[in-house]
Amino acid sequence: MGGAASAASSTQSILLPQARFATGDNAAWREPNFDDSGWKLLSTTQYYEAQGFEGYDGYSWYRIHVVIPSALRESSDWRKRLRVYLSAIDDSDESYLNGVLIGKTGRMPSDPGGYEGRWDVVRDYQVDLPNDSIRWDADNVIAVRVYDGGGGGGFYRDTPHLSIPQRADGLQFDQAQASHRLLANGKIQSVLSVRNSYPVAQRGRLEIEVRDQLKNRVLMTRKQSIRLAPQTSQTLRWTLPSGPGIQARLRYLDAGSGHAATAIHQLPYRLTPPDGPKPALHGARLLGSRPGTPLHYRIAATGRAPLRFSAQGLPRGLKLDGKTGVISGITPKEGRYIVKLGVRNALGSAKREWTLVAGAQLALTPPMGWNSWYAHGLAVSDSLVRKAAQVFIDKGLAAKGWSRINIDDGWESEQRAADGQISGNQRFPDMLALGQSLHAQGLGFGIYSSPGATTCGGYLGSLGHEFNDAATYGRWGVDFLKYDLCSYAQTLSKPPTLDEQQQPYRLMNQALRLEPRSIIFSLCQYGEEKVWNWGPSVGGQLWRMTGDIDDSWSSVLQNGFAMAPYTGVVAPGRWNDPDMLMVGTLGLGGAPHPSRLTPDEQYSQVSLWSLMAAPLLISNDMRSLDEFTLGLLTNHDVIAINQDALGKGAQRVLDRDGWQVWVKELEGGSMAVGIFNLGESLRSTQIESSLFARPGQFEAFDAWRQKKLGLKSKNIDVTLPAHGVALLLVK
Ligand code: GLA
Repeated sequence: MGGAASAASSTQSILLPQARFATGDNAAWREPNFDDSGWKLLSTTQYYEAQGFEGYDGYSWYRIHVVIPSALRESSDWRKRLRVYLSAIDDSDESYLNGVLIGKTGRMPSDPGGYEGRWDVVRDYQVDLPNDSIRWDADNVIAVRVYDGGGGGGFYRDTPHLSIPQRADGLQFDQAQASHRLLANGKIQSVLSVRNSYPVAQRGRLEIEVRDQLKNRVLMTRKQSIRLAPQTSQTLRWTLPSGPGIQARLRYLDAGSGHAATAIHQLPYRLTPPDGPKPALHGARLLGSRPGTPLHYRIAATGRAPLRFSAQGLPRGLKLDGKTGVISGITPKEGRYIVKLGVRNALGSAKREWTLVAGAQLALTPPMGWNSWYAHGLAVSDSLVRKAAQVFIDKGLAAKGWSRINIDDGWESEQRAADGQISGNQRFPDMLALGQSLHAQGLGFGIYSSPGATTCGGYLGSLGHEFNDAATYGRWGVDFLKYDLCSYAQTLSKPPTLDEQQQPYRLMNQALRLEPRSIIFSLCQYGEEKVWNWGPSVGGQLWRMTGDIDDSWSSVLQNGFAMAPYTGVVAPGRWNDPDMLMVGTLGLGGAPHPSRLTPDEQYSQVSLWSLMAAPLLISNDMRSLDEFTLGLLTNHDVIAINQDALGKGAQRVLDRDGWQVWVKELEGGSMAVGIFNLGESLRSTQIESSLFARPGQFEAFDAWRQKKLGLKSKNIDVTLPAHGVALLLVK
């Protein structure tokens, strides 16, 4: 869990916000003396697609010109390295300084082993000093050869920069190793790893100061000495106060030079109150299913065990397991069936109406579930998927309406059988049994493929086998298909026509519709050709709006906040998918790490996705689901905003000085209001209530804290930490 902990220091750096750019590939373009003056100048913090190269996949080059002053070298007490930080590049790169290779991430199609995209990895290249290829006080060229396999391409995250590190910069507050455990007394136990990443010993002092930004008070300070041999690390443990706006500032002071490296950890805090022992019902109030198809549904409820369930008015063909709350059977003929769901325990009972809408429409509320991708990448397995389902039940996610378990890329066999049939690979020995076990728990079973010959991960896609694959999914009991463009992009003309873009989705939809199942169709082609305008016409219920998200704030801005113009198209069965929630332990099957979003950024992401009525898809490693993340995901008042039956996407009604207000109309006339501080520090403001309430008095409720704020009539005052949110319900 969060805590942006990138070390900062007194080291000077040169920002590289722009580069010359050309599509194509030519070995001469790495040379410093090549004349690139005719190339277009692009920003290095945004995909080239967004800067005039819409839809381009394949090779391209960036050339960054930079004068490296010798004074930069003189300002360092170490002078052993030039750091060339190139941020993240989509998808693979080879980077040269004045014609000499300084780093490479991922693989090019012509490399041994073939193409491998590593869009998610930060390129932090280091050049040993002294180095003859550097031209001090003169023009240098960093030339970056890029291959984009599909979707967004090129530089896209934070600003690349150059520096000559100090010795103290070798000391890093290792984000991947940090962990925070919320204690019952409201404090947190923090374990932090301090690592010396340089080949030189570190000796100095570490100071930690815990500060409450809201009250502007120092809550705790501590000092300790640090001695670290080259390439070693030390673990530090502290019990710290927790709450909104509380941060730990870490400062390492090098004993020799007095240079400092600093980092700020935003500490996690839980807002969601614990569930009470009395029975309560949660989750969406309606479900769409096609007549005559199998149905699996788990009633979402909390309360002290044992719970007993009832369902009055359940149509014939469906039955309820009174102990587990799982409803199963065959969807009745077309119609709206109003069922009175009930739950009771020793302390009382709760009832509420639930409507089964038997008809053509699926996903009447945004799908909520888990997807394997960001946790396990291509290493996903049957046992990891079963584990995720188990955690859904054991940790109370299913009790709040989390109901789908979706396998992403990496399940497919290496080859098809002689008759063309696909099967699971050795990590998925029995897909039918896996689906059955999910259904027995009242959970949905999701799968992934591509209309291309291969998927983005290089596995088998469905090209030429669409009907065969749909039939296989039908046999396995699949309820959800994510269909990811990937290699199909290479078969399209450049630029592709709208019809060409739609065709593979139309085809797979036809195949899916032959199956006697209610299969939700999730389109993944990164938002190309304004898919939100035609997604329903090719059978989709949800469609990705953008390229892949990652656990950085800029990605949340790009995938989430930038979607404001398109929320008007959202309606039941028509959902804009800004990609998954970046919460919990992530790692794409490689090095697991807590989400790099700060706790406030995570509250903001969950709030914004709820307001936009986005599909709520988590993708964390469920084996290490922590208390903070659980709090983020089990707040039934927040989830109810997302699952509201009206199915509206919030409108952004204010965007001023780094403040944004998003308002979502809810069934019954109330409004959900998100107030976001997009600024870089804790700030206060006053929001005009006319943006979301009728004149006169209105009742306000804090959704995260589940607390009444009372009757209000005036404007609303908020103080929010950097990138933080207030999520209100207004009646
Ligand atoms: C693409 C998609 C991701 C994921 C991977 C799997 O990048 O956008 O969501 O499905 O492919 O390879």
